[in-house]
Amino acid sequence: MARLLSGIQPSGEMHVGNWLGAIRNWVALQERYEAFYCVVDLHAMTVPYDPPLLRERTRDLAAVLLACGIDPDRSALFVQSHVPEHAELAWVLQCLTPMGDLSRMTQFKDKSAQHQNNVNAGLFTYPVLQAADILLYKAEAVPVGEDQVQHIELTREIARRFNARFGTTFPEPQEVLAKTARIRGLDGQAKMSKSLNNHIPLLAPPERIADLLRPAFTDPARLRRSDPGHPEVCNIFTLHQGFTPAEEVARVDRECRAAGIGCVECKRLLARTMADALAPIRERYAALSADHVDGVLAEGAARAREVARATMAEVRERVGVLAARPSPSARGTP
Ligand code: TRP
Ligand code: SF4
Repeated sequence: MARLLSGIQPSGEMHVGNWLGAIRNWVALQERYEAFYCVVDLHAMTVPYDPPLLRERTRDLAAVLLACGIDPDRSALFVQSHVPEHAELAWVLQCLTPMGDLSRMTQFKDKSAQHQNNVNAGLFTYPVLQAADILLYKAEAVPVGEDQVQHIELTREIARRFNARFGTTFPEPQEVLAKTARIRGLDGQAKMSKSLNNHIPLLAPPERIADLLRPAFTDPARLRRSDPGHPEVCNIFTLHQGFTPAEEVARVDRECRAAGIGCVECKRLLARTMADALAPIRERYAALSADHVDGVLAEGAARAREVARATMAEVRERVGVLAARPSPSARGTP
């Protein structure tokens, strides 16, 4: 089986957009790939953050991923900082990456505009750490959203540059895009995100889902119930496609166009199908103890470290650093 790696930042509450756009895909891909799923805590340090909260969110995100169906018997689920080789390889790759390439990254431009008083070097070299995440496992497939394609292209360039300079070591990874349309938030405009507060939390109970959907934006051209609607521009319809059985989706599509279903009723239906789909995730999440999650992460890190150590040994040999001899205290002690 080909190897796959993806990463997710422990930077906020998981929401329905993350699930449709990423996590659901991760769960499905476990069948076809040897998967490494990484909670990228080091990446989360590139913007202002609270240390105790980062620690809590790291474990919590791992718990959510398990509840969503990441299977630790198949996939390695681990925390980036538990495998020190990520940071080590990132350094080597930074020395191969022109500043010009990094200053062209859209995410860097966006985030440095957002955090003008904290444009730290880590924010700038963020994509190189991401390249290290991927190349450390010689992953061939990387499931990501549209917004990360530029980082995967850069990873391929870094791999090419390393291979040309030091000999073929890394495969060039390919992005795997989710089939789901971009999930907009409750405002119907911007991408669903916790920081815009336009999100539906993945662990929201059924009443909360219904409350959040009630005032959500729909087709802006549909002012009266008697106006025919346009499902293709309506975010509620996009969400139906993620949660509602196909024949019901087809009926909503038909009846919306014919002004046969009102938005209130349409949202009520969505609140129900969404709550039904998310109920098992909420139940599994509630049943997970911190101790169990920490155990899974320890096992995941052990599997990841095995691969990481082998790759780093190869990299060290190629880039010309002197191999360390076993320390004197470890030798000849009777
Ligand atoms: N940068 C990615 C994001 O913001 C997260 C990430 C870090 C990642 N390392 C990765 C994704 C490696 C894929 C592979 O979504
Ligand atoms: Fe959107 Fe549903 Fe209203 Fe049609 S009926 S505009 S799909 S919310």
